[in-house]
Amino acid sequence: MNGKKIPPYLLVIVGGTGDLARRKLLPAIWKLRERHLSEFRLIGSGSGKQHNDETYRDFVARSIEEQGVDLRESGDSFDWCYYQSVGSGTTAEFKALADRVLQIEKETGLPGNRVFYLAVPPAVFPNAIKNLGEVGLNKSAGEIKLVVEKPFGQDLKSARELNILVHQYFEESQIYRIDHYLGKETVQNVLAFRFSNAMFESQWNRDRIQRVEITVAETVGAEHRAGYYDHVGALRDMIQNHLTQLLTLTAMEVPTAIDADSVRHEKVKVLRAVSPLSPENVVFGQYTRGAVGGREVEGYSEEERVAKDSQTETYVALKLNISNWRWQGVPFILRTGKRMFKAITEVAITFNSPPVSIFRQFSINEIQPNKLVMTLQPNEGFDLSFKVKEPGDVYRLSSQRLHFQYSEVFGRVPDAYETLLFDILKGDQTLFVRSDEVEASWELYTPLLSRKFPVHKYASGTWGPTEAEQLLDGSKWTTI
Ligand code: BG6
Repeated sequence: MNGKKIPPYLLVIVGGTGDLARRKLLPAIWKLRERHLSEFRLIGSGSGKQHNDETYRDFVARSIEEQGVDLRESGDSFDWCYYQSVGSGTTAEFKALADRVLQIEKETGLPGNRVFYLAVPPAVFPNAIKNLGEVGLNKSAGEIKLVVEKPFGQDLKSARELNILVHQYFEESQIYRIDHYLGKETVQNVLAFRFSNAMFESQWNRDRIQRVEITVAETVGAEHRAGYYDHVGALRDMIQNHLTQLLTLTAMEVPTAIDADSVRHEKVKVLRAVSPLSPENVVFGQYTRGAVGGREVEGYSEEERVAKDSQTETYVALKLNISNWRWQGVPFILRTGKRMFKAITEVAITFNSPPVSIFRQFSINEIQPNKLVMTLQPNEGFDLSFKVKEPGDVYRLSSQRLHFQYSEVFGRVPDAYETLLFDILKGDQTLFVRSDEVEASWELYTPLLSRKFPVHKYASGTWGPTEAEQLLDGSKWTTI
């Protein structure tokens, strides 16, 4: 990010006292404000009457401190923050919010640039969008933007309905659908890596690549989100959005430029080229009791607010084919799970093996193919494995690595929400999901939602059910 100042904005967070606001949005806003935002105002809007402006300012300060920021030297009185309840979300309560917005804009001389950030549960989106429109908050002399958190819909039908509703009040160019993975520096770096290194781009196709594995493994369980998660599952929670974003960035064609239209256009083309998923290429799992990092943890069905006989999947692995000139026949294997052996997000590319072995002592199967592993978190970096001859009389090959680690070179990388909020204020939609993109993604996975897949149990602290290995056609996972 450069030191560019952005025009004065009023940001309204609907859900301004919630978990996302507390943990991510408020700390990110504070960091951005320091660097880029001069006359910036924030209204936190919650359902309760527990706050007034003053207590909300304390809430904001505490949220920032909880993320390890020392505010003692800052001299910030947080007088740029306000609170306005939207209660149960009636139109009258949104009208009161509209009055407050106009009053603050008038008092502070803001030109009517507004961002409405819906940091609320998805069930609340439609009502909030409708009311923002009905009370006229979507119109002003300035720029207006609407930010909608994930999940955008819960299947193709609901995503389409939500798109129709949102387009009644906002233009597509005003809508920022969040997938916070796109804000992660290293996820964006997949594009930089691919499109500024001709060496790799020329290898990036079915002639050179044997398979692609995309893994998002977490050690956390459903825990305090279990009540919500039990109605959602890993397919909706992770595959449809985060892993699919990684898939499109890895597989897309070279865009004409890194701008919103060009990049999103290429991503949608990938989704449209994915062949319908066959059920035998999908494996569901659910964690049972076990140990993660030496700590005993309970099984999913033992967690509070989870039905004892719950069939919700906490793990999904699936294999898909992108039926286009670049990728036809190359398996893309997506895998995600909670309570796995370790937390890691990576894209692993396995290149083709040499066509024959000229080393008589080795069969072709013994010459492991080159692998490129892009680690997106933690320990962000790249790893390229290749073969060398070990010194000595006996001809022996060993696998060595070229390794680059982000933190060793660049130090702190901004949090995803800092990047995304900055882009929203700048008006750059490249890292946000377009309406046709979200629908294309749901179109792919919706047929799976109504099927009853067997849910294979796996012990917490492992790499998931062994049944998923069938997707590898006799190979092994790159990371286990
Ligand atoms: C969220 C999912 O979108 O992403 C969570 O709802 C998941 O279930 C989280 O834990 C993972 O995000 P990150 O940034 O921790 O990898």
